[in-house]
Amino acid sequence: MTDEPYAEIWEGGLRNDLREVIFDAKTIESKVVEIGQRITKDYADKDPLMLGILKGSYPFLADLTRAVNLPLTVDFMAVSSYGAGTKSSGVVRILKDLDRSIEGRHVIIVEDIIDTGLTLHYLRQTLRGRKPASVEIAALLDKKAVRKGKELEDMGARYVGFECPDEFVVGYGLDYKGRYRNMPFIGVLRPEIYS
Ligand code: PRP
Repeated sequence: MTDEPYAEIWEGGLRNDLREVIFDAKTIESKVVEIGQRITKDYADKDPLMLGILKGSYPFLADLTRAVNLPLTVDFMAVSSYGAGTKSSGVVRILKDLDRSIEGRHVIIVEDIIDTGLTLHYLRQTLRGRKPASVEIAALLDKKAVRKGKELEDMGARYVGFECPDEFVVGYGLDYKGRYRNMPFIGVLRPEIYS
């Protein structure tokens, strides 16, 4: 018997495409609750706007907002920095913009992963131009090693879940060709799947 959520569903099947699981569902849940408690404290008396960046952020946003006891609101943007492959193209496109103005709002950008940092760098600049009261970043994973020695090294994300190894990771929102987002854990994809 395990207390890992969804354990029986994820024995075998799609899970076999992973070389290893690096963050299991229980570990992710504890970290999300911890970040939620910090946000609840940091934004006491405020009504932050939690901005999910589609599509990768959807499980993190859903779980994180349920761990924040504040009258927050939620909005979404869809941007794309990757094509169908495994490497960042460096080009950020807005596919869907916010529904409402963020003027005077305390915005928390919610992302599944900071990789090269290009997406968040672009988003933060763009959003700051719209006169919000503040803009902070909550990212579940940070692939710091990728940016070492580069201009984007420090993204200044206020809330980061885990440092992520420089591997091709999928699950909990992270995809390969649109798949694996529904895994409740995060793992390293077997190279033979994408090569
Ligand atoms: C992923 C991820 C971030 C971005 C991070 O999104 O969700 O938004 O890449 O990479 P960067 O730091 O190198 O810019 P992706 O463009 O793959 O879209 P998706 O969320 O729909 O999977």
